[in-house]
Amino acid sequence: MSTAADWDRATAGRDAPFAIVDLEAFDANAADLRRRAAGRMIRVASKSVRVRGLLERVLAQPGFSGVMSYSLPEALWLVGEGLEDVFVAYPTSHREALARLAADEHALEQVSIAIDSTEHVEALTSWLPKGAPVRVVIDVDASLRVGPAHLGVRRSPTRSPRRAAAVAREARRAGLRVVGLMFYDAQIAGLPDTSAAVRMVKSRSDAALRRRRPRVRAAVEEVVGPLQIVNGGGTGSVDLTGADPTLTEVAAGSGLIGPTLFDGYDGFSPRPAVAWAAPVVRRPARDVVTVFSSGYIASGPPGASRVPSVHAPQGLRLSGAEGAGEVQTPLRGRAARDLAMGDRVWFRHAKAGEPAERFDAYLALRGDEVVDVLPTYRGEGKNFG
Ligand SMILES: Cc1ncc(COP(=O)(O)O)c(C=O)c1O
Repeated sequence: MSTAADWDRATAGRDAPFAIVDLEAFDANAADLRRRAAGRMIRVASKSVRVRGLLERVLAQPGFSGVMSYSLPEALWLVGEGLEDVFVAYPTSHREALARLAADEHALEQVSIAIDSTEHVEALTSWLPKGAPVRVVIDVDASLRVGPAHLGVRRSPTRSPRRAAAVAREARRAGLRVVGLMFYDAQIAGLPDTSAAVRMVKSRSDAALRRRRPRVRAAVEEVVGPLQIVNGGGTGSVDLTGADPTLTEVAAGSGLIGPTLFDGYDGFSPRPAVAWAAPVVRRPARDVVTVFSSGYIASGPPGASRVPSVHAPQGLRLSGAEGAGEVQTPLRGRAARDLAMGDRVWFRHAKAGEPAERFDAYLALRGDEVVDVLPTYRGEGKNFG
């Protein structure tokens, strides 16, 4: 297993900041996701990768098939680059991309987009040329309701079999092709196992979804016939969610990269596969060094879990007063004494895909060698929001 010392050797002589992907860790993470999925196909969540070369790399491995994309312009670009079966799992209002999709026979076969309501059907009907046979997947609310409490994300208003069937009926009437369902269980997949209460929410949610998913699927299939895609889960729930025979596949992306938000799960621990190096540029005090930039705060509810973490050398921590900075980041700890100007500090991001929006490329490492340079979406001049 490679260490930060290997990363240092591989990148010796390069000017930081730069980011790396450790291909052995990435492949080991892919194998671990495959093991946890126990035969269920894994659709790769591109938002958590944002490097085309890495998407292609994992899709060449057994157990992985199809992309879960986050934007229609992204999906059209990926399909144009030869990727197949790209499902945009978040609703779109991008009219120019919809017009391109409707005019492209190949894309019409390879791309599906999420809808969650008859309101979406109406919007698509007004934005698409009449009768464009766009593939749609109905996003069904997979949160847990306990009395008035809503545990999970706020996405789809569609929850019951009856309502899902009504959306399917409207979509079909509008000429859309209903090809699937998605149930994203954020309260299982996206919550680290920090307490007995969290574990209880997860097992109650799982039990409730096991009852509801087949009923929703049956109601929708009664309207539109057999579905090609019944998607659920994420990195944190590949094993639990993937065991439900109602699903045809699970989604995962973060588990390939191993960001810090996935450090606290009971059943698995992805290896850190992506990190960046920042150079020491100042010494404000004996036990403090300042590194360049690195203030890459993750999306989501603001708080300590969203800031970058020092991976190596160990024993350095962010300052409470300054945190991770726009162009410089002070780090405190005895380990600062052993660092000289220009030495590297390695960081990990809280989320998997977001470092790719900061760097044009990842240096691809194998052991202590750079074996490739993989452009990120940003490096390919692509920004999808
Ligand atoms: C619809 C959907 N599926 C799956 C995932 C899981 O992605 P990951 O495996 O990167 O956590 C997410 C993440 O937010 C999501 O929005």
